[in-house]
Amino acid sequence: MANTASVVQRIETLREQINDHNYHYYVLDDPRIPDAEYDRLFRELQALEAEHPDLVAPDSPTQRVGANVETTFDEVVHRLPMLSLDNAFSEDELRDFDRRVKDRLKKDGPIEYVCEPKLDGLAVSLHYEKGVLTRAATRGDGYAGEDITANIRTIPSVPLGLRGEGFPELVEVRGEVYMPLAGFAALNSRLSDRGEKTFVNPRNAAAGSLRQKNPKVTARRPLELCAYSVAVLDEQDLPDNHWDCLKLVQQWGFRINSEMRKALGADECLEAYRALMEKRQQLPYDIDGIVFKVNDFALQRALGFVSRAPRWAIAQKFPAQEELTVIEGVEFQVGRTGAVTPVARLHPVFVGGVTVSNATLHNMDEIERLDVRIGDTVFVRRAGDVIPQVVKVLTERRPENAQIIQRPTHCPVCGSDVVQIEGEAVARCSGGLYCAAQRKEAIKHYASRKALDIEGLGDKWIDILVEKGMVNTVADLYHLTRDDLKSLDRMGNKSADNLVSAIASSRHPVLWRFIYALGIREVGEATAKALASHFGSLEAISEASEEALQAVPDVGPIVAGHVRSFFDQAHNQEIIDALKSAGVEWQSEVITASERPLNGETWVLTGSLSEMTRDEAKVRLEALGAKVASSVSKKTTCVVAGEAAGSKLTKAESLGVKIMEEADFVKFLASHGVAEGASE
Ligand code: IVH
Repeated sequence: MANTASVVQRIETLREQINDHNYHYYVLDDPRIPDAEYDRLFRELQALEAEHPDLVAPDSPTQRVGANVETTFDEVVHRLPMLSLDNAFSEDELRDFDRRVKDRLKKDGPIEYVCEPKLDGLAVSLHYEKGVLTRAATRGDGYAGEDITANIRTIPSVPLGLRGEGFPELVEVRGEVYMPLAGFAALNSRLSDRGEKTFVNPRNAAAGSLRQKNPKVTARRPLELCAYSVAVLDEQDLPDNHWDCLKLVQQWGFRINSEMRKALGADECLEAYRALMEKRQQLPYDIDGIVFKVNDFALQRALGFVSRAPRWAIAQKFPAQEELTVIEGVEFQVGRTGAVTPVARLHPVFVGGVTVSNATLHNMDEIERLDVRIGDTVFVRRAGDVIPQVVKVLTERRPENAQIIQRPTHCPVCGSDVVQIEGEAVARCSGGLYCAAQRKEAIKHYASRKALDIEGLGDKWIDILVEKGMVNTVADLYHLTRDDLKSLDRMGNKSADNLVSAIASSRHPVLWRFIYALGIREVGEATAKALASHFGSLEAISEASEEALQAVPDVGPIVAGHVRSFFDQAHNQEIIDALKSAGVEWQSEVITASERPLNGETWVLTGSLSEMTRDEAKVRLEALGAKVASSVSKKTTCVVAGEAAGSKLTKAESLGVKIMEEADFVKFLASHGVAEGASE
């Protein structure tokens, strides 16, 4: 078929649109269209290119994984060496660095630095000729690395072509390739499900992924690129400072780090260090420190280099997230659903900024996969909000008397048989509510913040109440008196009163919270909400067949099976009856689908609300039938703008979408009967 002008035009438009969407999604973290819409555009482009192979271009977004292209790993000599950074391990060392900078420059006033997180990944160099990615290389020894172009092209946040106009003819962008924590966890769990070797940390996973000969394998790995420097290889000018350069690089289509900031003098650098350290556990990727760079290029040039590191930059390190320690023992803990989890007792070790003495071993399969024994020296990793993990055993350091860890045959708490269902990794205590551990966990879940939120009823008190036999099921909580509670050590009059009244005021939950609080396996908040709004009453849910349950969005055969078997167990019905007799009354979802005033509407929440959290606002809007989306589009019905609303508000304004300020939103909710308290 001839390449009609309209096909050429359409291909061009699709590429532009897709590149634009990629930029918003991967670089600005601000998606503009739903995934399904993106997929349609992508497939249309693929189909047109398949029909017109002569129109395929190397920088087309469809060409991230080229047909049968292998990564060569040929040697690449860097035009400018890829240097490393000196490290500062203390505040004093950072102040010494700043002093040296000022002395060399003979400057008295404070120096302006750019502070950037030091991402824990691999440095790469990317060459663009006339705006097209032509070569990507690893750092290697700093002077020569390996050609990894085919693999790098698969990373969605690497632009295959630079955006906009006016970029230099020949430019080299450098940055760090890394694997975000969520992707790392998902990759490891995929590998471990297949019985394959897992990676110790995201850095190793990123390195292993870039080392693949077949780019199709790399393409399946969740890698990202963050740019941190640029060099122009022809005569063209760049801005005269690092900060502006990075902003320019962002316009070309690169992700830069959103935590980047400027600091004037050593004091502000140290402030930035502390602030970033605070934030470290919440970041979605690993960092091992903060990099300070003199901002002004003229000053950078004046400072120059010493051996292989610049005099104008330094990395201040954070406490390590991996350390070695010894396994002193293994205990088995029993959870709410009876899951028996091995926990390693460790020789205490300082890791990820805290002293750690326990680490999860997940399950027996994991113990066997790691081949871990008591007495072994192991790598412990603590990163993000995840509990510390044993990630590797140093078998070469294994003592002769290292002890093999036996699968438990009986529950360590109640002595019931431990059973493991074929194909499931988790072993479970078969004791059900006979098992004190399961009872405790069930009550803890019931009282937890996201469930009935009983203030003052912490885990410690629940342990004591169950151990003393004062509470066996959640229903018993409602019979506790002030005098019962006062009989406990360290429970004062006031605390006893507060606790009795907190328990009493948990008697009228909304239906979905009550369902969630029951602790049915795999029924989280979202599923509880879906069940409540579909069935409207607990009776209807408890009587529904597995088939009927599967009519609820997101409920598949497994969850339906768990729900059914929960209500089929006589002791669960007994507990529900006992709760009813104790005066617990959940508010049914009285609004039926047709009465939901916001049915079919899509709302977006942005900025921070002062009267409620965004989650609370979401629950209330959903109770009225609205869908709450995370990005604004033409289809958005209304945007609720709280304090410091950002790009979503601007976008709503530009699209002419209705905007509601918080005060009006609160009135609006009140007029629909879902004001503060009503949905709690
Ligand atoms: S600048 C001359 N900036 O740290 C300056 N490096 O020890 C060279 N790294 O190989 C690097 N985040 O892999 C720079 N924001 C950042 C960085 C960063 C991570 C890594 C990079 C480099 C190593 C230097």
